[in-house]
This record gives sequence, structure tokens and C-alpha cells, in this order.
Amino acid sequence: MSKLCIRGGERLNGDVIINGAKNAAVAILPATILVDGISVIENLPNINDVSILNETMCSLGAVTKFIDTHTLEVDASTVYNHNALDECVSKMRASYYLLGALLGRFKYAEVAMPGGCDFGGRPIDQHIKGFKALGADVEVIDNVIKVSAKRLIGTRIYLDVVSVGATINIMLAAVLAEGTTVIENSAKEPHIVDVANYLNMMGAEIKGAGTDVIRIKGVEKLHGGKYTIVPDQIEAGTFMIAAAITGGDVCVKNIIPEHMDSLSSKFREMGIEVIEGDDYLRVIAPINFKATTVKTLPYPGFPTDLQPQMAVLLTVANGVSTMIEGVFENRFQYIEELKPTGAKIHIEGNRAIIEGVESLKSSHLIATDLRAGAAMIIAGLRATGGETVIHNVKYIDRGYETVETKLSALGANIYRK
Ligand code: EPZ
Repeated sequence: MSKLCIRGGERLNGDVIINGAKNAAVAILPATILVDGISVIENLPNINDVSILNETMCSLGAVTKFIDTHTLEVDASTVYNHNALDECVSKMRASYYLLGALLGRFKYAEVAMPGGCDFGGRPIDQHIKGFKALGADVEVIDNVIKVSAKRLIGTRIYLDVVSVGATINIMLAAVLAEGTTVIENSAKEPHIVDVANYLNMMGAEIKGAGTDVIRIKGVEKLHGGKYTIVPDQIEAGTFMIAAAITGGDVCVKNIIPEHMDSLSSKFREMGIEVIEGDDYLRVIAPINFKATTVKTLPYPGFPTDLQPQMAVLLTVANGVSTMIEGVFENRFQYIEELKPTGAKIHIEGNRAIIEGVESLKSSHLIATDLRAGAAMIIAGLRATGGETVIHNVKYIDRGYETVETKLSALGANIYRK
């Protein structure tokens, strides 16, 4: 099992180029199943979740080819198998998008119940509610979800919970349905807009993505085409936080700055300078910055996927900060793993009270999930007194492309062993 080793204390300096968004990629790849033809997807991040999905698509009968590291051609005209039951499917939460795509095109699918990072419950009741509203039968037998429909008829669906996955999955199931589907109380994340843009590029008629009401007018079929994935808001935020914790000066490039507004405004409140360009943000950080309060919320609120990374930044702020997790039941498991660094954090329900300390101690840290792993890297970049060793790097590789190469280029003392 590979590990990441970091000697903290180096101020990060320079430019970093952000890759395509993981959470757009893991939805758009399944969405290519809806196309009876060839899709060429550009700006795909070179990460494990994309590799797993590519293998799964091939097991369904799609023919795929990497044109280059970040461009995949998918011919879904040959998809014949509507069952995705391999173990790797159950290991990745985004596998549930195969349900919406296979149901939407073939009116049938069997997919292993998705796993994914454990933040308390990870129900899919809203996905099922949407499929049933469109006319599908849904059964869950022996940890396999089976969906089938004679016809899919457009309808109005109100989401009881603002859910990224349910919003996208219902969109996938509705795009070839008869009539119009209206999703109300839909999530508004940038990757939702990206999925809608991809589908519209292929001939779908989706309006309102990025707002809380999305209208999908069913069409007969989708044609092939080319699409470039949106930059990764969470990778960008992770590098912005890495710059901040080291008192660095880093230009995060190839991004959409407005996607980062919640983080940029928090940084400015804390006394960390953020200079905005057309497709970059430059973070110029003092080594001392103010404590603050952060609450994670669905977009455009502060992203829950930056919660662990931001909490680590706050462990060395001047004063006492509060981190409130407003999306998941329990996304603080990583805090126990941070204890060896000397961070002073205690949990009160969905709040983490963080007392700023002068410095963090180098130590062995265990990544418990993807973004917790990113948080351990953030801690390692600041920790002194030796070498921080991060275990379970496989989690980090699920969502970050060559993270140590990018950090080394910014001056971090980091290597993989
Ligand atoms: C997506 O997960 C992302 N994953 C997560 O990113 C991200 O944290 C999350 O959205 C929120 O932004 C992917 O896109 C692959 P939700 P998802 O449905 O779709 C509840 C990462 O690190 N809920 O928006 O599973 C749920 O329990 C990962 O990249 C229901 O109650 O999240 C949660 O409290 C981690 N019923 C809230 O809604 C449902 O049917 C938001 O979940 C669905 C969700």
C-alpha cells in the first residue's frame, strides 16, 4: 500500500493547473450510455474512479478508447448488458448513475447497491422516488437494485432533500422519456450543470440546470458528439487551502473563479488575499490568519467536500473557529485521525469547535476517505518536527490526479513510497 511522506514548513509558490471535475466525470461517463453513438469526453481527470467506470462501461458492452490521458472516446451503440454487479461497482458511490442511464435508454438495469465514503447514512430514497415517479418498478434484492419500466412518462418530482446524485440520476432517466419532467428542489452544483450541458450537446432538451427547478423535455434519441468537462471545484479549493496553510503565494489555474466564491470570501474574511482572474485565482497568504465560522451547504454554499481540508486550515488560525457540517449526518470521522498532530478540535453534534494552535506535529496519519485524505495532506504541509506519513493513499488517488507531483512543483517536500 503506497504512502505519501511530507516534511512540512515549506511555503508553496507558483502555478498549479486544475484537472477536470471528478464529480462531473463520474456522471458524464455513465450518461454516455444514453447515446446510441460515439461520445468524445475531453478534460477527464486521470483518477481511479474514471478507470473503474471505464472498465464497467466496457463490461456493459460499450467500446471505449483513450485518445490521450484526458480524452476518452465511448461508443455506446454496442451496449447490450444492463447489469453492473461487479464488486468494483459497489465500491464506488457514483455507480448509481448507471441505473438512471440504463433505465433511461433500455428501460431496465440491475446495479450493485453503491458504497462510497461513509458519512453516516448514504440513502438513495430520492433516486428511487424519482424513478418510480417516472413509471419504473424498483426492487432491492440481496444488495442489488433492479429498475424496470414498460414506459417512462415525464412528470413533476419534488426532492425532499437537495441531492446531487438524485438530481443527476433523475435527469438521466428522464432525458429519453415521453413528455416533460420537472425536478423541483434540485441541487445546483457545477457538475450538475455540466451533465446537463453534455446531454444538451447530444440533443437533449434540458433547461434550468444550476437552479432549483430543472425541466427535461423527453426526446426520441441522443446523437454522438464531443464534450469538455468543467474544471474541478474541489481540487481547486484543496490547492487554495494548501497555499493558505503554508503562508504561500499560489496561482490556481484553469478554473471557473465563481465556483470558488464561498471559499474566496471566507479567505478574505480571514485576512488571506485572493486575486481573481478570468480563469485563475491567486492566493497570497500570511502565516497568521483569523479564525472564522464555516457552515457547509449545497451549492452555492460552502462545499461539504472542502470541509475536512478547511477544518485543518482552521487548526492553525488565530483564535477559535467553528465548522458546521450542514449536508451529511456525520462527516467528522477524520478528526480522530488528526489527534497525533496536536490539533485541538472537539465535536458537538454537527459542529467542530477548533482552537487554533501555533503549529502541528509531524506524525503518521490514516486517510479514512477521499477528502479526509486530502485534509491529511494539508496537515502534513504545515506539520513540523519530522516526516508526516499518510496511509491509505488509495483513497486520495480516487479523486486527485498526481497530487504529489503538483505539490512538489509548488515547492512542497513530498514523495510517495
Ligand atoms: C455527491 O454525493 C458527491 N459525490 C459527494 O462528493 C458530495 O459530498 C455530495 O454530492 C454533496 O455535494 C459524487 O458526486 C460522486 P447527495 P451524493 O445526494 O450525490 C442525503 C467526494 O468527495 N440524501 O447530494 O451521494 C444524503 O444522505 C464525494 O467527491 C438522501 O437523504 O450526495 C446527504 O445527507 C463525497 N437521500 C444529502 O442528501 C437520497 O436519496 C446530500 O447527499 C440522496 C441523498
